[in-house]
Amino acid sequence: MHSIGVDIGGTKIAAGVVDENGRIRARTRRDTPATDQDLIEGAVVDAVQELRADHEIAGVGIGAAGFVGADRRTIVFAANLAWRDAALADGIESRIDLPVVVENDANAAGWAEFRFGAAREAGDMLMLTVGTGLGGALVMDGRLVRGSGGFAGEVAHMNLVPNGQWCGCGRRGCLEQYTSGTALVRMARARAASSDALYAPLLSRAEGDIARIDGPTITDAAQEGDEGAIALLDELGYWLGYGAASLSAVLDPQMVVIGGGVGAAGDLLLDPARRGYAEELVARGHRSLAEFAIARTGNSAGMIGAADLARQAA
Ligand code: BGC
Ligand code: NA
Ligand code: ZN
Repeated sequence: MHSIGVDIGGTKIAAGVVDENGRIRARTRRDTPATDQDLIEGAVVDAVQELRADHEIAGVGIGAAGFVGADRRTIVFAANLAWRDAALADGIESRIDLPVVVENDANAAGWAEFRFGAAREAGDMLMLTVGTGLGGALVMDGRLVRGSGGFAGEVAHMNLVPNGQWCGCGRRGCLEQYTSGTALVRMARARAASSDALYAPLLSRAEGDIARIDGPTITDAAQEGDEGAIALLDELGYWLGYGAASLSAVLDPQMVVIGGGVGAAGDLLLDPARRGYAEELVARGHRSLAEFAIARTGNSAGMIGAADLARQAA
């Protein structure tokens, strides 16, 4: 039986019909309406109805960037979006007659990687999605770890730096402020505004306008060999490895899978992440290192994972 996976992003809503092997059979997208919940629900319903016309569907899974309650129906809180106690599953189920499951975006992506992607042979794994925010998913003994209230795996908001950078969650020094698309852009703009010649080419790419330096500017520059951009990704990757080492001290995962938009930088992020992890890991030399890999399901991970979780629940 097929199910529909929906990934609600900051700018677009991506939806697809996914089969039991994690293959996408059809897909569609809508722009994400500002922050009005009713309009967002309307856009999701619209996309689902379009896909449903040609496929028999068991249920709908929705991945969203926030703290999703344990009942997998409500987005309770979000660090970077306006969601507060948003009863997303109720709102959508009342407009379509299909069961709806809501999942944290990174949990959905992690589940896709565990079932069908880079970690499909692993028994447990840690997924880190590096996009606008930093997402996390933990699969231990074959199960997605949700915690008591549904909020487990919020690696973005681990306190790493006392009195550090302010975070969208309202607190300071969270890992997300050092390794995420947001952190990358903030760091790049600050460096480009400085007199450090290493970052001058980045500023030229943005035609001298600091505000025009965005994530793709930096990752494209890095892929083309720009040393400043490579140095920034190196820093970001090191922090990722640093976070993974701390998490490994607690969880000891077999694999660390890195995804998200910035994750597409591949080895430019993966190599420093491996280095940061190996340097900071406790008991190094006395344990095997986790295998680091880039996500295989790419930017469809959230959609595929949400659909699979919905299929299992239906
Ligand atoms: C949020 C998570 C989300 C992640 C990636 C973080 O800031 O707290 O809920 O999974 O960003 O979108
Ligand atoms: Na998560
Ligand atoms: Zn935070």
